[in-house]
Amino acid sequence: MRFRTIDELEDALREAEYLPDRGLSTALFLSLALEKPLLLEGEAGVGKTEAAKALAAALEAHLIRLQCYEGLDVAHAVYEWNYPRQLLHIRAAQEGTVSEAELFGPDFLIRRPLLEAIDSDGPVVLLIDELDRADEEFEAFLLEILSDFQITIPEIGTIKARRRPAVVVTSNRTRDLHDALKRRTLYHWIGHPGMERELEIVKLRVPGVPERLAAEAAAFVRGLRGLELAKPPGVAETIDWAHALAALGRQELDAEVVEQTLGSVLKYREDIEAVRDVALARLVEEARATARS
Ligand SMILES: Nc1ncnc2c1ncn2[C@@H]1O[C@H](COP(=O)(O)OP(=O)(O)O)[C@@H](O)[C@H]1O
Ligand SMILES: [Mg+2]
Repeated sequence: MRFRTIDELEDALREAEYLPDRGLSTALFLSLALEKPLLLEGEAGVGKTEAAKALAAALEAHLIRLQCYEGLDVAHAVYEWNYPRQLLHIRAAQEGTVSEAELFGPDFLIRRPLLEAIDSDGPVVLLIDELDRADEEFEAFLLEILSDFQITIPEIGTIKARRRPAVVVTSNRTRDLHDALKRRTLYHWIGHPGMERELEIVKLRVPGVPERLAAEAAAFVRGLRGLELAKPPGVAETIDWAHALAALGRQELDAEVVEQTLGSVLKYREDIEAVRDVALARLVEEARATARS
């Protein structure tokens, strides 16, 4: 393993412009040390996908991403045979006969992310993103791969990983993943960051943002998360919003600019209306007071 301590890993993640909290860097460290996949759960926009990308950068590894969706199947996740190419080959051979072994050989195999990750020589981070969107059958199938790190292709044989990829599985928790999957993974819940870390993240991701503006925005967003909203803003929204405010040339928050830019930070009409009509002025005052202290 590349990193001897959690601190070393944390430094490398920071280098990749990712600021983890201690819990996450510990989970990532253990996942590497134990060669066990890491399951990251949390609401949208808290930094799950980005954590895997930053890990790949930190390890100088190739990132292979499998984006999950309803109906995702083996043909799109693992491999499929290139029928058009097989047909062309048969035609080109014309009179000559074509053996089955030839047609179902590596030249006619379309390699999808899971096979690519297993059958790879360099260091790899395999990101299985938003697994909760895939069907349960796919999740069950994935179990096998994550426990044996091998894939069987009937026509070719079993391909076993020569070096295990680091694996990060993410879920937005639109449904619960199975216990069987959880047994095979380490688990970490990513919550919203505390205000100080969020401020650091904003400064890192929005270069040149005025300090005071960034602090007030982080404090305001924290206030929003304390309300009963349909979709509380994640770090992604705080960053977008800070970009927008900085683009408007603002040095600090006031009620007017917040009202005009609320769509950068809240993405549901009901949330925007509820905040605008009830809490906006108070939240701005509180954010300004918090940022001053
Ligand atoms: N800890 C962090 N350090 C730096 N940037 C972060 C962090 N967490 C989130 N971000 C930013 O927020 C954005 C959204 O994160 P993302 O990983 O896409 O969220 P998720 O996958 O959880 O929905 C990322 O592009 C990144 O810029
Ligand atoms: Mg994501």
